[in-house]
Parts: sequence; structure tokens; C-alpha cells
Amino acid sequence: MRILFYTGKGGVGKTSVAAATALRCAQRGYRTIVLSTDAAHSLGDSLGVELRAEPMQVLPNLWAQEINALHELESSWGEVSRYLAELLAWQGVETIAQGELSVIPGTEELFSLLQIKRHYDEQKYDVIVVDAAPTGETLRLLSLPDIMRWWIARLFPIARALLKVVRPVAKRVTDMPIAEDEVLASAQQAIDALVDVRHILTDQQVTTARIVMNLEKMVIREAQRSLTYLSLFGYAVDAVVVNRILPANVDHHFAAWRAMQQEYAPQVEEMFEPLPILRAPHFDREIVGPELLHQLADRLFHDRDPAEFLYHGPVQRIEKMNGGFDLIVPLPFASEDQIHLAQSNDELLISVGWHRHRIVLPQSLARLRAQDAYFEDSALRVVFRKDAATSQTSQVM
Ligand SMILES: Nc1ncnc2c1ncn2[C@@H]1O[C@H](COP(=O)(O)OP(=O)(O)OP(=O)(O)O)[C@@H](O)[C@H]1O
Ligand SMILES: [Mg+2]
Repeated sequence: MRILFYTGKGGVGKTSVAAATALRCAQRGYRTIVLSTDAAHSLGDSLGVELRAEPMQVLPNLWAQEINALHELESSWGEVSRYLAELLAWQGVETIAQGELSVIPGTEELFSLLQIKRHYDEQKYDVIVVDAAPTGETLRLLSLPDIMRWWIARLFPIARALLKVVRPVAKRVTDMPIAEDEVLASAQQAIDALVDVRHILTDQQVTTARIVMNLEKMVIREAQRSLTYLSLFGYAVDAVVVNRILPANVDHHFAAWRAMQQEYAPQVEEMFEPLPILRAPHFDREIVGPELLHQLADRLFHDRDPAEFLYHGPVQRIEKMNGGFDLIVPLPFASEDQIHLAQSNDELLISVGWHRHRIVLPQSLARLRAQDAYFEDSALRVVFRKDAATSQTSQVM
């Protein structure tokens, strides 16, 4: 099983590139499914067929699916969100806000990702190509299961224990809606499934992400940022895609535009090195239907197999050092002043710019202190050493 996850800023060509990739995979004999998790679907338009929420065969070896996010949300989280809404209503929160507050923004797309787990579990396909929602959202969502797992680990046992005691009493003395066991069980089940999805997507033997971009300043910056965040969250990236490259023979109207692209092209190589760059020209028409998608695939992959691992990158790892351990987090392009570390017990909070990531530390690190952090070879090296105050009691494994 191979999973290819396409991400990138809005409008750069994710859907087209994902569809072209899937088409080429199918042509090479892989049983392939391409699915879009973006609520604003355009995968069907790209393939030139009307798609449904369930997988539908569109060509030999090729299936496609436009996931119904609301349906996924309802079936996995409906009960929980209804309880939350009830609870909010009880607290006097206005009804309009209720619906919104009981569903974390973007949760729909998160639950769409459960379809990946379904296909992974069923093993019906060789390749899953994911056409994801634009960058920021997807990355934030992908990191959510971690946070949820943290909540589950810390709060649910307490909540459960508390409810056993409180529920009979609370039913009598207050009209506060009390979560039934089924609601907690259903929340637990949904979160477990999301944690599974995260495992699948961070399994570097299975999944790699590919970042799609155009040669424009803002788009390149966004692509850089997503590479940092993907690395931070433990997702492997095996290529970047530069789409819509203007050819040499553009008329004078686009000459300045092409000159600008020519300026950015080498910068992109420097920035994303050693990742391979897949390139596609700006076509003279929109890319709709199998014929044009095949042409796009030709330009992107030439004779290469799109399902190959195009790059094997560094992963987050721990090195044993004199008197402690170093945690090495590959974080290309992040600069030192953007990084903030905070440790409490077995957790390390890494802040990169506006994004925060919580790592639950392995035992051997949790007993030590994060004393220093610096950049080395596009990686953040966090130095864990015995804390002077606790060195009497802490043992280095
Ligand atoms: N290389 C290209 N040359 C010409 N047109 C292109 C190229 N790549 C994509 N397009 C066209 O640009 C439009 C947007 O592409 P696409 O839908 O693939 O982008 P996207 O990143 O998925 O957008 P969104 O973020 O809205 O989902 C489509 O009409 C598509 O046919
Ligand atoms: Mg799209």
C-alpha cells in the first residue's frame, strides 16, 4: 500500500496534479483510488466525470471519490457534538453559536481523512492519492489527533471516574446535561480512529507528502512553511511540484511574468534541495479530462513511476550523547529566533512561528531537561541533559 498526499496553497494545481498522478499509477497497473478531502470538490471536474461520496470506478484500475465531509462528521462525531451543543445551551450560549462551537472549525475535513483508514484497512487498492485542502488547514488538522490523544490520556479517565460518582447525584440536583457512557465511548472511538489515521500518514514506509507550488513569492513561502510543519509533525515529504511554468515562447504580455518565474526557479532549487522537483508547464488551456491529465503526468514524471519514493528524507530521531540524549527534529528553513521550547514532565512544546506542536517524550527523555536547542544541518537539535536539581534521582537509561 502506498499513499501520496498532495498539499499546497489554494489554486496552485493540487487537484490536477493529484488526478494526473492517479491516472498514471492506474495506467502502470496499480489499483488506484484518488480521493478529495477538500469540501470544495473539483476532482470530478478535473477527471471529467461526476463523482460521488462512495468510490466509483472511472477508468481501468482507477477509482475516485469526493468525500462527503458532513456525512463523515455526522457518523463519527454527531453524538459528541450534539452533547456539546446541549451542554453549551445549558450554559446559556446562543443557539447559533452552539452549532459552531460544538464542532471545531475544520473538523469536517479531519473526519474525511477517516476514509484513508478505511481504504488502508480494506487493502483493496495499491495506491491511494489524496487531494487535500489548502496547506494551513490540512496541516493544522493533521496535528489535531495528537492533541486529542493527549486529552484522552489525561482527561478521559478523570472524566469517566468523575461521572461514575457525579452522574446519579447530578441527575437529581441539577439539570446539567450529563454525558452518557455512549457519548464518551463514541468520542473515544472517533479519536482512536483519528490517531490511527495519523499513524498511517506518518508511516514513512507508506505515506509521503508532495507540496505543489507555483513560481510566485507568496506561494513559495507558503510551500516552505508547509515543509517545516510537515517535518515537525513527522510526515515525510518526497518531492515538491512546481506547476504552471511559463514556456520560453510566451508573447510580450507575459514576458515580465516569465522573467519573474525565471528568477524564482533557482531559488526554489536552493530552498528545497535535496528534495526532487517535479515540473509542469503552464498549459494553454485548463486541464480537464484524461487526455490532458495524461499530458500533465508525462511532464511531471516522464518515465518515472509516480508511486516510487522519490526521496528518503531524514526523520525525527534520538541520539545518545555523553550525559544525556539529543532529540533531532528535521526542521528545514526554520530560524532560531522563531523557535520556542517549553518542557513540562513528559511533554515538550515546540513553537515554530505561529504553530505549536506537542511531543510526548519517550521515558528516557522525559526524565531529563531540555537544556539547549540549536540548528544544525536543517535540523533542530534539542539537547537533553540531567537537570542539576534532580540529578540525584534521575537515571540516564
Ligand atoms: N499547468 C497548468 N496549466 C494550465 N492550467 C492549469 C495547470 N494546472 C492547473 N491548471 C488549471 O487551474 C485551475 C486550478 O487548478 P486545480 O483545481 O488543480 O488547483 P487546486 O490547487 O486544486 O485548487 P484549490 O486550492 O481550489 O483546490 C484548474 O482550472 C486547472 O485546470
Ligand atoms: Mg483542488
